[in-house]
Amino acid sequence: MAVIASNCPQHRVVVVDINEARIAAWQSDQLPIYEPGLEELVRRVRNKNLFFSTEISRNIAEADIIFVSVNTPTKTFGQGAGRAADLQYWETTARQILENSDSPKVVVEKSTLPVRTAEAMERILRSNGNGHHFEVVSNPEFLAEGTAIRDMQQPDRVLIGGRETPSGQRAVQAIVDIYSQWVPNERIITTNLWSAELSKLVANAFLAQRISSINAISALCEKTEADVTEVAHAIGMDSRIGAKFLRAGVGFGGSCFKKDILNLVYLCEHYGLQEVAAYWEQVVRMNEYQQARFVSNMISSMFNTVAGKRVAIFGAAFKANTSDTRESPALDVCRALLEEHADVVMTDPHALDMARADLGDLAQQVTFEPDPHQAAKGAHALAILTEWPDFAQLDYQALYKSMVKPAFIFDGRNILQHQKLHAIGFNVYAIGKPPLTNFAK
Ligand SMILES: NC(=O)c1ccc[n+]([C@@H]2O[C@H](COP(=O)([O-])OP(=O)(O)OC[C@H]3O[C@@H](n4cnc5c(N)ncnc54)[C@H](O)[C@@H]3O)[C@@H](O)[C@H]2O)c1
Repeated sequence: MAVIASNCPQHRVVVVDINEARIAAWQSDQLPIYEPGLEELVRRVRNKNLFFSTEISRNIAEADIIFVSVNTPTKTFGQGAGRAADLQYWETTARQILENSDSPKVVVEKSTLPVRTAEAMERILRSNGNGHHFEVVSNPEFLAEGTAIRDMQQPDRVLIGGRETPSGQRAVQAIVDIYSQWVPNERIITTNLWSAELSKLVANAFLAQRISSINAISALCEKTEADVTEVAHAIGMDSRIGAKFLRAGVGFGGSCFKKDILNLVYLCEHYGLQEVAAYWEQVVRMNEYQQARFVSNMISSMFNTVAGKRVAIFGAAFKANTSDTRESPALDVCRALLEEHADVVMTDPHALDMARADLGDLAQQVTFEPDPHQAAKGAHALAILTEWPDFAQLDYQALYKSMVKPAFIFDGRNILQHQKLHAIGFNVYAIGKPPLTNFAK
């Protein structure tokens, strides 16, 4: 919304949320999330044509267009638990819109939703008989956390799906008119509603599938002395395959990939497509396998026990340049190490507060240390779990000196210079590469 406000000074954009603390944070100098470029942007447009408010009813009444971006987590109860999207927040919003509207509105699906959710939305919105017309449009969001502002400012494409009726097409055009203020027309695609809804789930499934595919190969590399970075480079130069999203690592995280694939799996099962469901579910299973493999490898390399050993986890965020720790492999690895009675210390430049909150009761057993040098002090092992560029720039000679020997590094993101670390004295374990140890054969 900040990007829309900055590109469309003629529009007044109001962000509303039921979470008062979040809205207060958006109005303050301490924004509730870290995202490169966001703070400057918000400062520039806030209280000019971008506003934050908890007055939901009034703002619904005043709006012509409503972007619904509420959370759609995986259901934890009842039918479809663990797979289907929990649409309760979505439906509550639809009813709030209905209750508070006294003029026609375009309702935009911005949240990621199962295919055909728009139909349910339409049915709710048209149930009142008050004569006001609601048009539902799907405009899925493809931005990635960490590069959100750039992705919004220069999107690969903007997708807008609507009904093929005259009023449906007018609603689609209203949304096209917003984006066309800064996005070239050839990058704005319009489709029918169901294609737009499905494309978002499919895009995330394909992206996650590439990560799971290269991670599956990383396991084979470790058994055969092939190097996954070399393999990825070699196959990525084939223009049919392409070089992006081929970095092996400890696995994907974030609030979207797993949730959206499981949502796709559930949809396929719902339509009786068991083989299709099983195919996509394997992407999630491979991700879980990769994380479990990483922890097992740590334990077996450290003489089959980490109990009582200080292990420094470098990175809490699920990826670099975000404070988001939802579904972060770092937290899963942390939980597994705590189960093994390791003494865990975690460091991250931006995500420690969220990590503490996400770990809940377990947070009491973890030391949170913003300074990586302090975190490494007295540690038996370092585990790199987020690809923050800062971690590649540290003085590893100094870190090594302060650690217990033999000192181990587990590079879960393949961002360090492994030969150099090995020469310093570390025993180095990377993903999809032969280990570099300093033990006598
Ligand atoms: N995070 C991403 O990178 C990303 C990218 C693309 C799409 N999405 C999709 O966008 C949606 C939101 O994701 P998110 O990461 O921002 O989730 P989030 O949980 O961080 O934010 C959702 C917000 O909606 C608010 N909310 C819930 N019910 C409400 C209501 N009735 N009225 C007003 N506010 C309400 C919550 O308080 C919360 O602040 C999801 O469907 C997600 O899949 C997220």
